[in-house]
Amino acid sequence: MSAARRVGVGIIGTGNISSAYLTAMKGFDVLDIRGLADMKQDLAAKRAAEFNVPVAASVEALLADPSVEIIVNLTIPRAHVEVGLRAVAAGKHIYGEKPLGITYAEGKKLVDAAKAKGVRVGSAPDTFLGGGHQQARAIVDSGALGTIVGGSAYFACPGHEFWHPDPAFYYDIGGGPVLDMGPYYITQLVNLLGPVAKVQALSLTPHAERPIRSEPKKGQMMPVKVATHVTGTLIFASGALIQVTLSFDVPAHKHLPYELYGTEGAMLVPDPNAFAGPVQVAKPRGQFEDVPVTLPYADANYRSIGVADMAYGILNNRPHRASGELALHVLEVMEAFEVASKEGRVVDIKTTAARPAPISESLTAGKLS
Ligand SMILES: NC(=O)c1ccc[n+]([C@@H]2O[C@H](COP(=O)([O-])OP(=O)(O)OC[C@H]3O[C@@H](n4cnc5c(N)ncnc54)[C@H](O)[C@@H]3O)[C@@H](O)[C@H]2O)c1
Repeated sequence: MSAARRVGVGIIGTGNISSAYLTAMKGFDVLDIRGLADMKQDLAAKRAAEFNVPVAASVEALLADPSVEIIVNLTIPRAHVEVGLRAVAAGKHIYGEKPLGITYAEGKKLVDAAKAKGVRVGSAPDTFLGGGHQQARAIVDSGALGTIVGGSAYFACPGHEFWHPDPAFYYDIGGGPVLDMGPYYITQLVNLLGPVAKVQALSLTPHAERPIRSEPKKGQMMPVKVATHVTGTLIFASGALIQVTLSFDVPAHKHLPYELYGTEGAMLVPDPNAFAGPVQVAKPRGQFEDVPVTLPYADANYRSIGVADMAYGILNNRPHRASGELALHVLEVMEAFEVASKEGRVVDIKTTAARPAPISESLTAGKLS
């Protein structure tokens, strides 16, 4: 069954991640891809041919196209707000890759501009909409774990320079493991536990520059302008204390990505860096046991589901789940890691965000109404 009306989408930024979007978008009937654009137009043309979708004449032409309702912004983090503001000025809804911006102040500017213009802001990550993640949310909401007391979220790797063809932006202002990977882990924490109230953190930058390890720029040195090993504690409004480690300085490790501890039980949550993954629960002194994932979107990479959800939100006049409000709260929390670390203090978080509505079992594949 197709969507009652399709929503026109234009994509700006056709680099590495655009392939995942263009692949998954084909599964969501509601999205009508009207054109691709990039500051490197030859790249946009190549991507459009690869996926058999239209290419726009330029970024400006795409923004001026009246059939485009949502701009999907897949540019690098430093350009997210600049491109987002241009889309808003053109009267388009904007959905961007994470993070919302590279500072809280610029992220707020985008959210405020959209509000003034009456258009929506959405932001990745949308992995928390995946079946395993939603199953974890349903378990928390059921009360089976009791009150959540603690937990941990752990992402650590030796750095994206081992695989990304052009990794310098990960070490420039706006990069680093917190802004790059924090959105996945912190967004899912807010989805599960509600808003963060305070942040405590410490950080390190062990190298002033690092070599690129991947082709085609192998051997070139990249300056490192951000903290690359960060660890801290999020103090939730609910009272839960969650330890978070985000690092590009760990050669290998055996930590689980995500654990929650409640007064009545513990849960292993799928890694929010992906859609799929198992959910396991243990009672006090018991063994962890698999919980069947019965919610949809559990088995593949659905990157773009947040855009589809925004499109259904537009059609059905309801809020979308991967919202600007949520992304701005997460951005403030991420910035607080740096402030807490530099100033050696616990930082109070000013913003808040409502937990997005859960995804129900009755939704069929490709539909989010
Ligand atoms: N690569 C991944 O696996 C991955 C995964 C998840 C999320 N992301 C996020 O996706 C975004 C893009 O990452 P990527 O790896 O695709 O980067 P990339 O460098 O491969 O692609 C970015 C593209 O944006 C274009 N661009 C930059 N500034 C622009 C501007 N002002 N106007 C028009 N085009 C512009 C560049 O020309 C480039 O083609 C980032 O926010 C990143 O955090 C990437």
